[in-house]
Amino acid sequence: MTPLDQLEQKITDRSVVVGVVGLGYVGLPLASAIHAGGARVLGFDVDPSKITAFADGRNYLKHLGDDMFTELAQSDRFDVTTDFARLAEADAIIVCVPTPLREDRTPDLSYVTQTAGAIGKALRAGQLVVLESTTYPGTTRREFLGAIVESSRASGQELQPGEDFLVAFSPEREDPGRKSHATATIPKLVGGLDDRATNVACDLYRIGVREVIPVSSAEVAEAAKILENVYRAVNIALVNEMKVILSDMDIDVFEVVRAAATKPFGFEPFYPGPGLGGHCIPIDPYYLAHRAKEIGREARFIELAGEINHAMPAYVVEKTIGALKERQVEPASARVLVLGLAYKPDIDDVRESPSFELIELLREHGVHADYSDPYIKATWKMRRYNLGLTSVELTPESVAGYDAVIISTNHTAFDYEMLAQHAKLVVDTRDAMRIYEKQMGGRLIRA
Ligand SMILES: NC(=O)c1ccc[n+]([C@@H]2O[C@H](COP(=O)([O-])OP(=O)(O)OC[C@H]3O[C@@H](n4cnc5c(N)ncnc54)[C@H](O)[C@@H]3O)[C@@H](O)[C@H]2O)c1
Repeated sequence: MTPLDQLEQKITDRSVVVGVVGLGYVGLPLASAIHAGGARVLGFDVDPSKITAFADGRNYLKHLGDDMFTELAQSDRFDVTTDFARLAEADAIIVCVPTPLREDRTPDLSYVTQTAGAIGKALRAGQLVVLESTTYPGTTRREFLGAIVESSRASGQELQPGEDFLVAFSPEREDPGRKSHATATIPKLVGGLDDRATNVACDLYRIGVREVIPVSSAEVAEAAKILENVYRAVNIALVNEMKVILSDMDIDVFEVVRAAATKPFGFEPFYPGPGLGGHCIPIDPYYLAHRAKEIGREARFIELAGEINHAMPAYVVEKTIGALKERQVEPASARVLVLGLAYKPDIDDVRESPSFELIELLREHGVHADYSDPYIKATWKMRRYNLGLTSVELTPESVAGYDAVIISTNHTAFDYEMLAQHAKLVVDTRDAMRIYEKQMGGRLIRA
């Protein structure tokens, strides 16, 4: 039996040890799904607080629920470490590290290549390595495998991909906070650098995921993920542009989208908002745009969608300032409360959230801006923003003390009826106040 035959055998009999690198929004639920399927899981992270969280029983990703966290923390088939030499213990390694953008909107693959370097150092015959981080087509074969091989050679090894170890790409499709789907029920695409890598990686994922779909190459899997996100970015930009145009015509864009969505085929509804948030849609399309530029092609839809979506916070602020002035409130003396700091409802994820931009732009106009978010008690110093704010408790008195309230994120926990009764002005970017429209009259505007 070769080492790769042994790997296949271990996957079949569930004695496989699966290393998951990066225990964040993607890696942690994946580790949990594979653990639930019966395999032994070894989690790796560079952030020691993630490791101590398990020892202390402190769930750091609330939306996943405390049960999932406790089950992992207490299991003798689950362990976590910052010691990357232990990668050698894993038969299969799945990489879920961040793929952000640099300041100039070019891909920052440093987390991926650093991890590949650590894997190369510990590499042994009979391992499968899968990259999950969203990236442009070609990364797994070039940058990822390249860094693994370079580091493994530097450690004196001569292991051959396809013969001694296998490499594949499988895009993550996580949607934190979504109740209808979880890691185990979202179909998983898998594309290897060769057929054996595809087949073995498919078998590995079947441990924890109900439906696994092989594609012909890692590049197809990489491109499919980018297409999914570009599709969303472009469609959201389209409805955001429609919102701006229809608003000037006094037509309600939300009603228009819902009306169009009654067509039983050929239309999928997307809704406008205050701008894009999250780790995927505002970022991933630029990975493809970057690669397109390298091969001498333009990604015009991506660039245009980015431009339109990025202009949304300024549009919302402009509308708010206009409405305040109509009410004889000058920006310099105005107090505005932004509802929701997370980028989408009912989670505590603030990455790329347009609410930060809203607050900064309001401040640029001289407005005193606060926020309220039950999931985020205070802001902290981030790469781009350092607001220095704490969440305002929503009460009839606090709400009445602001000249305007902007609904940026429609958390279910907000008391919208109370807002309808006590707010002087509500600027609704999420269509959260429709049922109070009549009651509020001129105190409600959409933006
Ligand atoms: N969050 C989502 O909804 C989502 C959905 C689909 C795809 N993705 C993609 O999945 C990837 C991971 O995203 P995420 O949301 O899980 O990020 P995250 O920031 O939640 O988690 C990343 C984790 O990796 C750790 N980490 C950073 N550098 C590391 C290194 N060198 N070695 C080991 N660990 C390291 C961090 O400490 C963190 O715990 C990204 O490429 C992202 O685009 C995310």
